[in-house]
Amino acid sequence: MLCVYLTSLFLLTILAVVVQGAVVEARSRDTFAPKVFIISMFDAEGDAWHGIPEFNVLERNITIPGFSPLFPQAHCTRDGSICQLVTGEAEINAASTITALVQSPLFDLTHTYFLIAGIAGISPRLGTLGSVTFARFAVQVALQFEFDAREKPAEFPTGYVPQGSMAPDEFPQDLYGTEVFEVNEELRQIAIRTAKKATLFDDTQSQQYRVNYATNSAFGPGAAAPSVVACDTATSDVFWTGNLLAAAFENTTTLFTNGSATYCTTQQEDNATLEALMRGALAGRVDFSRIIVMRTGSDFDRPFDGQTAAANLFVGTPGFDIAIRNIRAAGVPIVTTIVSGWKARFERGVMPNNYIGDIFGSLGGTPDFGPGSIFRGKSALRKRSLRLRMSRPILAV
Ligand SMILES: *[C@@H]1O[C@H](CO)[C@@H](O)[C@H](O)[C@H]1NC(C)=O
Ligand SMILES: *[C@@H]1O[C@H](CO)[C@@H](O)[C@H](O)[C@H]1NC(C)=O
Ligand SMILES: *[C@@H]1O[C@H](CO)[C@@H](O)[C@H](O)[C@H]1NC(C)=O
Ligand SMILES: *[C@@H]1O[C@H](CO)[C@@H](O)[C@H](O)[C@H]1NC(C)=O
Repeated sequence: MLCVYLTSLFLLTILAVVVQGAVVEARSRDTFAPKVFIISMFDAEGDAWHGIPEFNVLERNITIPGFSPLFPQAHCTRDGSICQLVTGEAEINAASTITALVQSPLFDLTHTYFLIAGIAGISPRLGTLGSVTFARFAVQVALQFEFDAREKPAEFPTGYVPQGSMAPDEFPQDLYGTEVFEVNEELRQIAIRTAKKATLFDDTQSQQYRVNYATNSAFGPGAAAPSVVACDTATSDVFWTGNLLAAAFENTTTLFTNGSATYCTTQQEDNATLEALMRGALAGRVDFSRIIVMRTGSDFDRPFDGQTAAANLFVGTPGFDIAIRNIRAAGVPIVTTIVSGWKARFERGVMPNNYIGDIFGSLGGTPDFGPGSIFRGKSALRKRSLRLRMSRPILAV
C-alpha cells in the first residue's frame, strides 16, 4: 500500500517536473517578437502573401484565442520575424482580432512594424484600379447621423450629418475618439519610396474599364495607369457607392481633419485596427509610430459619367486581381526593406516629425485636427498614473 502510494507520489513528481519544463519550454519557444506583422482583412488578401519566394509565413501557425472563427491563426516565418493575420471584414472584426493580438502573451509587439495591406474602393480623382495608396490619416466617415435621403432636409446634399451637429458642414459636436487617426509620416515616406521601385501589375480588364473615366477631366488619375499615391483613407462599415456619398465623405474627411487629409480610398476596417493598436500602445504593448496603412484600388467609389451608381456597385470589383497582386508587388519590398535594414535602421524606430495618434490626443502631443488634446498634451496613461500618484497621500491619511 505504502509502496503504491510512494510510487504514485514519485510518478506525480516526475509528471509535475515534466509538465513544468514543457510549459517553460513552450513559453520561451513560442514567444514571437516579429519585425513585421502584416494585417490582411479577408482570405484573398491573406493568400497574396503565400507561395512567394522571399519568405514563407506558413512555417509556423499559431492559434490565438480571440481571433475570428474563420481565421483563428496567426502565421509566421520559422524564426518569427515576419507574421501575418486575417482580421475578418469590417470594423468589429478588425477591432476584435487586433485587440486579441495585442493582448496575446505569445507575442512581444513592442518593436513590431504593422503593415495594414488591403484592397479598397478608390476615387478616380486620385487613383485607379491597381493603384497603391499610403495613408497618413484614417477617417471614420460614417460615424455620423444619417437620414434616408427621401426624408432628409431639402437643403442637405445627402442624408449624412456629423454627430451632435445640425448641418452637414458643422464640425461634430460629439466625438467618440475614433474619428481620425494619424500615422507616422516619415515611415509613410519610406514605404512610398520603397513601393515606387516596384513594378505594378495591370491587366486588360482594368485597362478597358478605366478608359470610361477619361471623358471627365476631373477623373484623369482614374483613367491613367496604376501608380503609387500618397492619399488618405476612409473607414465605413457600409460598402457605399455614388457621386453624392463620395462628395459627402470627401467633405467629412476634410471637416474631421480640419483640412489636413485628402480622401482617396474607402474601406471597412482601418480605423478599427488603428484604435485597437492605439489602445495597445497605451498599454505599452505596441509602438504606434510603426504603422503603415497601404490600400490598393480594386473598384471605383463612384460611377463614370453616364453610368448609374447601381451599375458601378453591381459591376463588382473590376480591378480585384491587380489590387491583390499589387499588395504583394508593393508590400513584399516594404517587408524585406524593414527586415534587412533591422540592425542599421529599423530596430530603433523611425522618429515621426508629425503628430501621431487619435483625435483626443490619447498618446500625448496635440492633434492638428479636432478640438486639440483633451489630455492637455500628455499621454492619457501618464495623466491617469499622475492622478493615482496624487491620490496616494490622500489614501494614506
Ligand atoms: C499552416 O496553415 C496553412 C493553411 O492555413 C497550411 O497550408 C500550412 O501547411 C500550415 N503550416 C504548418 C507548419 O502546419
Ligand atoms: C480613421 O483613421 C484615420 C487615420 O488612419 C484618421 O485620419 C481618421 O480620422 C479616422 N477616422 C475616424 C472616424 O476615426
Ligand atoms: C461638399 O462641400 C461643398 C463645399 O462646402 C458643398 O458645396 C457640397 O454641397 C458638399 N457636398 C456634399 C455631397 O456634401
Ligand atoms: C478644427 O475645426 C474645429 C471646427 O471649426 C475647431 O473647433 C477646432 O479648434 C479645429 N482644430 C484645430 C486643431 O485647428
